Parts: sequence; C-alpha cells; structure tokens
Amino acid sequence: MRFFLLLPLLLVVVTVQGQGVTYHADVAPIIHENCTQCHRVGEIGPMPFTTFEEVSAYGEFIEYVTSTGYMPPWTPDPTYSHFVGERVLSAEEIETLSAWVDAGKPEGDPADNPGLPDFPEDSQVGEPDLVMPMPEPYVHEGSMTDQYQVFVLPTGFETDVTIRSLEVMPGNHAIAHHAILGLDISGTAANLDAQDPDLGYESFGDFGFDAYENFFGGWVPGTLPVVYPEGIGRVIPAGSDLLVQMHYGPSAVEESDQTEINVFFTEGPVEREVTTGIMGPWALGEPFFIPANQVKVFHGEFPISSDISLINIVPHCHLIGASWEVFATSANGNDTIPLISIPDWDFNWQGFFTFPTLTKIPGGYTLEAIAVYDNTADNPFNPSSPPQNVFYGDNTEDEMFFVFLDYVEYQEGDEDISLETPLLTGIGALDPSGPLVKLQPNPNRGSVQLLVDPSLIGQPWEVLDLGGRILRSGAFRSANQQLHLDGLGDGVYLFRSSEGVERLVIQR
Ligand code: HEC
Repeated sequence: MRFFLLLPLLLVVVTVQGQGVTYHADVAPIIHENCTQCHRVGEIGPMPFTTFEEVSAYGEFIEYVTSTGYMPPWTPDPTYSHFVGERVLSAEEIETLSAWVDAGKPEGDPADNPGLPDFPEDSQVGEPDLVMPMPEPYVHEGSMTDQYQVFVLPTGFETDVTIRSLEVMPGNHAIAHHAILGLDISGTAANLDAQDPDLGYESFGDFGFDAYENFFGGWVPGTLPVVYPEGIGRVIPAGSDLLVQMHYGPSAVEESDQTEINVFFTEGPVEREVTTGIMGPWALGEPFFIPANQVKVFHGEFPISSDISLINIVPHCHLIGASWEVFATSANGNDTIPLISIPDWDFNWQGFFTFPTLTKIPGGYTLEAIAVYDNTADNPFNPSSPPQNVFYGDNTEDEMFFVFLDYVEYQEGDEDISLETPLLTGIGALDPSGPLVKLQPNPNRGSVQLLVDPSLIGQPWEVLDLGGRILRSGAFRSANQQLHLDGLGDGVYLFRSSEGVERLVIQR
C-alpha cells in the first residue's frame, strides 16, 4: 500500500528535478537570496556569485557546501529554536542546486532571471543620531593571517545616554569577519591602546581584560542590528569608551579599514533598561580546566529570580569548543524552554542571536548551558599539536565559557513584541528625526489614533504584515483620525507612510 502511495510521489520529484532546472529560472533566485550578499566583489565571500558564469564555475563546490550545511553560514540548529535573520536553505532548495549540477548546469533563458536584489549600503535603522568612527584607518597586512584588534572609541558623553540601537558599519567588507562591541568605564582599554604602538591593540578572545560585564553585542556579515522596541533602551554611562574588537579575515593583499558605529538614541523615556546577564566559568561548579587529549563536557547553571524577557543570546568560546546547548528548566523539571543549540561550534562564525520576539523566562527557572570542548588531536581546529592542557584566558590557545543574555524585566504581552529588523529592509526605514506621523496608542486594541502633520493630508498609508503583504491601505484624511483595524488578529504589523515604517502592535 505504502509503496503505491510513494511511487507517484517519486515520479513527480524525478520529473520536476530532471525537467528543465535552469540557472536563470531556478538557481539564480536561491543564490541571490542566500549567497550573493557575501559573495560579490568587496564582500567577505572569497568568490563572487552574481552571474551564470561565476556560479557555474563553482557548481560542484556549491552543491557540496550546501548539502553539508557549511554554506550559508548558520551555526544554530533551526529545529531547536529560531532567530532573526536565520540563514538556512530548505531541503527543496538544496535539491534544486544539486539537480542543476547533475543536469550539467544548464543556463536557460536569461529572461527568467529575477535580477540581483538591492543590497542596502546605508544604515538599516535610519539616520543615526551620532556616528563614531575608528580614529583612523587600520592597515591589515596582506599575509593571509587573521587579525583580532581592539579599537577604543571615546564617547565623550557628559551624562548617561540611553540608546535604542548600535549599528556596526564595517569600513571594508572584504576583510571584516566579525565585530564585538563593549563598553569600558575603567580606562583600562585606553591604557592598553596607549601601550601599543599600533592603532588599537591586539586581543584574540575578547577585549584583553575582564570587560565582559559591559559586553554589547556585535556584528557578523549579513546581520542587521537589534533595534529595541519602544520603551526599552540601554544606558551608556557618561565618560565611557566604546570598544570594538574587529576580526579581520585573511587577505592576500594589504587592506585598510575604518569601521564606524552608528548610535541611535531612544526617543521618549525608557521604561525598561536592557541588562546583560552572564553565565561564566563561575557557574560551572568545578574548575574550568580542559586536560590534553580529552573531550570535556561542562554544565553551567544560572538561576532566574524574577520573570524576564530575553532579547538575544550569545554563547562564546574559542577554537576547541565543539558544541553548545542552552535551555531553561522549571524548578519541578516539568517544563523546558529550548533557547539555542549549536551542534558544530565554529569560532569563525560565532553569532549574536536575537530571538524573533521577546522570549519570557519565568522567575524560578534555571538557565542551563552544556558546552563540549574537544581537546584531542582529532579536532582540526585545535591550535596546539600535540594537544596541551587548556586553561581559561584571552589567548588563542586558552579557552572561555560564556553565555551572554540581553534581557529586560518581563511585561505582559512581551511574547508579541517583535525584534525583527530585517523586515524594515527594502520597505523604507524609520525616520527618527521628529515623527510626522504618530500612532496612539501603540500597542492598541484594534483601533489606533493617527496624529499626522497637516502637510501629509492626502498622502497614502498602508498596514502590512511582517512578510510585507499589504493588508489595509488608505490616505490620511485629517490631522487626527481614528483607524479601526477590525479583522486583523493580535500581533505585530507595520504601518508605512511617506515618513517611513513603524511597528504597529495589536493586543486585545
Ligand atoms: C554571511 C556571508 C556568507 C554567505 C551568506 C554565504 N557565504 Fe559562502 N563563504 C563566506 C566566507 C567568509 C567564506 C570563506 C570561508 C569561511 O570563512 O568560512 C565562504 C566560502 C564559500 C565557499 C568556498 C568554501 C571553501 O572551503 O573555501 C563556497 C563554495 C561558498 N562559500 C558558497 C556559498 C553558497 C552557495 C552560499 C549560499 C547558499 C554562501 N556561500 C553563502 C561567506 C558567506
């Protein structure tokens, strides 16, 4: 019985694959959407994938790296939990690439090619309130080596400042592999910088001293910055220095970089301040030591005392890290909230993982992290040959155990507050300079007051879902107009007008 049911299905699959898979119709849309962002001239991918010739030259290699899951780079297990900007191919897309290679990489009709997407070069958040550049360009040698360099950017803030986003704008995409941001109010980083004749100073694992309590997220190619939802902000203390650790990838030619940080201040008052929780080696209940030639498993615990909402999660270790799993469990053990699983840790692709919505962890739960370190000769990333005893530290041969968590106190309805910024891509950006359109209240119960600058009367507005589909549209009729959103379920929408895009939250 089963056999007969399967047979027609197989036939369909075979015909779809065998028949007319072409570059322009089938392969280009997958490559453009998932690869070209990094694989084009001036970006970090080592070869460009923008034309039929470029892609077909690497056809077999592409089939290999996509079928093994090595590309596109995305280390968290997508069946365990989800994050903003998830980069995974579907089984169908992987099959299409493979069928195209098997069919001899036919080109097809250029008219079928959807064209390259617009890759935004400007800020993804809007007009920054402040731009903080590296003091001068840093020169990265063309010696095919990695470089980890920390730069110190004095804020000069005379009072505490609350921000809603920090956006890393790499100055040279061809070498910028990742950036880690931190804050220093102790002056230690500035001292380390002063002692080093180069611009900034070298530090492999972090900022070269214990500044992890001021760890501030970061950037890897292809990620968009977190923009905190309304009422949420993070304090940068007066007089602090912003630290940027850049990982520059290997290059055959000398390159220079002058990365900038876009700073976005919060508009109104902040009800909830973002805090970074840190589960470090002290959470292990045993010394952090990894003997040579051993696979060592560590289990960290971090109690949650009151209800919190997680914004993002960042596991961090060095080269011999093998895997991570982080979850929260209730006191009675009946409930487990899966947070992140990284089955194959890759130091080169460490990420800053933002949850799609604020993620509640009830008070009384315990956060648990299981990290595996492979300190044997079988681990190709082991920096020591033969393997050596490994201790905690900043250097390449040292190791670390950290889970960083940005969170706020929980408020009812947080589960519906979206943290997706990619949805703003291509549909306009928020204009933080004096909103000419105001939505009140927001969140609302299905009815919202539009307060509009009179100059905009007659201009169109639209309500979209997070997938960009237009659900309602109209024109501004007056400076103060009630909009009923009957028929739209509770959740997060976008309100778009000539003034940009804003989140619109319905919560009945
Ligand atoms: C976020 C940036 C990024 C994206 C997206 C990306 N790549 Fe890559 N790719 C890289 C980098 C960087 C390398 C160099 C090796 C490394 O650092 O891991 C690379 C290497 C490769 C290689 C050479 C592998 C090797 O071992 O030298 C191939 C082939 C490749 N990518 C194909 C793809 C394909 C196909 C996609 C889309 C399905 C893709 N990449 C998406 C950044 C990216």
